[in-house]
Amino acid sequence: MNELKHLAIIMDGNGRWAKQRGLSRTKGHEKGAEVVREITTYCANHPEIKTLTLYAFSTENWKRPKMEVNFLMKLLERYLKNEETTYMKNEVKFETIGNLEPFSPSLKKAIKSLKEKTKNNKKLTQIIALNYGAQDEIVRAVNKLCKEKKEITIDTLNDALDMPYPIDLLIRTSGEQRISNFLLWQIAYAELFFTKTLWPDFTSTELEQIIQNYKKRERRFGGI
Ligand code: IPE
Ligand code: IPE
Ligand code: MG
Repeated sequence: MNELKHLAIIMDGNGRWAKQRGLSRTKGHEKGAEVVREITTYCANHPEIKTLTLYAFSTENWKRPKMEVNFLMKLLERYLKNEETTYMKNEVKFETIGNLEPFSPSLKKAIKSLKEKTKNNKKLTQIIALNYGAQDEIVRAVNKLCKEKKEITIDTLNDALDMPYPIDLLIRTSGEQRISNFLLWQIAYAELFFTKTLWPDFTSTELEQIIQNYKKRERRFGGI
């Protein structure tokens, strides 16, 4: 049976969930944040999963209306501040990938503070992808190696990335079957699972079913 150490999720469908209910897209993002809490708690208490990487804001998401971008930034800051007890209670360490540079000083401060407070938690590492794009990550890594005058090999490039750990299982919600610039390098041999469920409707019960499906797959990694 396949081991599941690193799970990654493209949390998609918040806007459509809200639209179906005649609500503003922001309501979908709010409900989505609650699902982040439920899924993180489930993963922290799962016997195998050590890392959960969540796609929250892409390098392309800046194209959205200013109002939506601002709302997402505020929601994130609020989540990081309000959920501290959830992180501590479930022994979850918080980390990020992506370029944090463009974020506001107060959001950067909230990110730094939660990382510091949760750094010794051992049950699960939750990595949130913020202003993350795999192409941007790879370019930053290559530039870093060039600057340090290091040779570019699979190992040196891997280690220069924001995320040096391969993904075992990648799930995307909302029915879209694409990667949208998420973890291009790290999904080289990941198993992919696409569900039609919109992220605000996603539950730990469905996650458990997907994990059971993953367990039964045959991962060959190019061998026979
Ligand atoms: C995912 O939901 C959340 C973010 C990308 C921030 P969307 O906002 O993309 O929802 P849809 O795809 O429009 O339904
Ligand atoms: C991918 O979703 C990014 C996140 C979930 C953060 P998008 O909704 O931005 O992706 P596209 O535009 O449908 O490919
Ligand atoms: Mg979307």
